[in-house]
Parts: sequence; C-alpha cells; structure tokens
Amino acid sequence: MQADFWHQRWQAGEIGFHKHEYNAHMTRFIDLLGIEQGDHVLVPLCGKSLDMIWLRDNMFHVTGIEISPIAVADFFSENNIEYEINEHQWGQAFQSDGITILCADFFDISSADLPHIDGIYDRASLIALPETMRPAYARHLSGLIPDTIRSLLITLDYPQQEMDGPPFAVTESEVNQLFGEQFIIEPIYSEDCLANEPRFQAKGLTRLDERVFLLTKNLP
Ligand SMILES: C[S@@+](CC[C@H](N)C(=O)[O-])C[C@H]1O[C@@H](n2cnc3c(N)ncnc32)[C@H](O)[C@@H]1O
Repeated sequence: MQADFWHQRWQAGEIGFHKHEYNAHMTRFIDLLGIEQGDHVLVPLCGKSLDMIWLRDNMFHVTGIEISPIAVADFFSENNIEYEINEHQWGQAFQSDGITILCADFFDISSADLPHIDGIYDRASLIALPETMRPAYARHLSGLIPDTIRSLLITLDYPQQEMDGPPFAVTESEVNQLFGEQFIIEPIYSEDCLANEPRFQAKGLTRLDERVFLLTKNLP
C-alpha cells in the first residue's frame, strides 16, 4: 500500500486494526522468541500498538517502525509517555525510556539504523501490504536482523475474493514462499476468528483464519 493511503487512514481515524487490549497471541507465545529481559524487540509497521507497552513493561527494549507521524504522536500522548525527537535522513526517531519509534518508511530503514535486534514481534504488517509488496517486505525484514533471530508473525487469511484489502489475505503457503529461503517456519496457531469479528462478518466474509508463525532466521 502506498504511504498516502496510510496517511489518509490515520488522518481520518480509520484504524479498525488498532486494539485496545494486549494481543493474546503475543502474551502467550512471546517466550518462543527465546528472548530475555533487557533484550531488544523490533516491531515493524507498529502503528500505535499497545503491545509495545506490554513489551516494555515486561522489561524488553522496543524499537517500532511506523510511517504515520499521527500514529507515533498518538502512541506517546495517549500513553502519557515523555519522549524526545531526533532528526535523521529517513525521518524522526521518537525516543523514550524503553520504547523508540522510528517514524519512517520501513523500506528506508537499514540495520545500521537499529540497535542489535534480539527478536521480532510482527502483527498485521504483511496483511497491510498488497501482494506485490510482500516479497520486498520479507526480504527487507530479513536484512534488518542477524542470523538465529526469531519472529512471531501474526497474519489473517480469508477468501480474498470476498473483500478488498487491507487487511489482505495471506495464506500459509505464501508465508512459506516469502520467508522459506531465509527462515525456518513453524505454524504454531490457527483458528477461524470470524465469530469474534462483527466488522468482517458485515463485509460478507465466510471465514477469517488468524494464524501465528514462529520464524527462525537461518538456523544452521
Ligand atoms: C494494519 S496496521 C498494523 C499496526 C500494528 N502492527 C498493530 O498491530 O496495531 C499497519 C501499519 O503499518 C503502517 N505502515 C504501512 N506502510 C508502512 C511503511 N512502508 N513503513 C512504515 N509503516 C507503514 C501503517 O501506517 C499502519 O499503522
């Protein structure tokens, strides 16, 4: 999706993806990342997700990447977190104690712009991107992290012909195609969550599978 699309969504407050509680899959499966207190978690395409608060409160350092300045400013103000802004060629870094959000296009960020990353929490990023952008996303994400690092990836899958995205449907086989060369992929959860999603029922979906994968980069 082009940047303008997301800027307009945030401007109009059309952010149905934003949740007001912590993600239950994250809290349940985060230990699978094999990270420890003080370790650094990357949250790509982070929006203003409260999951970053949970991660910080559980003693991880968080770096989010988000293109919308509205999302980033809202995150800090709504959570009463003081921050300072540092200017960079790719955008601005909003820095606080334990959470830094790089307000930038994900594709403009390189590993040199990040601290050493120990794990990735990746909810609703792939499904935010159209099919043509997803291979570049997977390649770029892989380039941002060292070998052996794990990612907790949360996606949605539904009959794509029933609704225009975003969120786009991402099948398990596409996850394998996108990440299979550089990651070991373990599907760890899948459930049809349509019964709990009235806004997607209203759009006529007949199935909405939420899936969680554990990806491990280049294990020997
Ligand atoms: C579906 S939302 C998910 C947000 C968050 N992960 C969550 O769980 O609430 C996708 C987010 O990605 C952001 N985004 C889209 N394209 C981006 C890009 N190229 N670089 C950085 N952020 C991007 C959008 O502004 C939006 O906040």
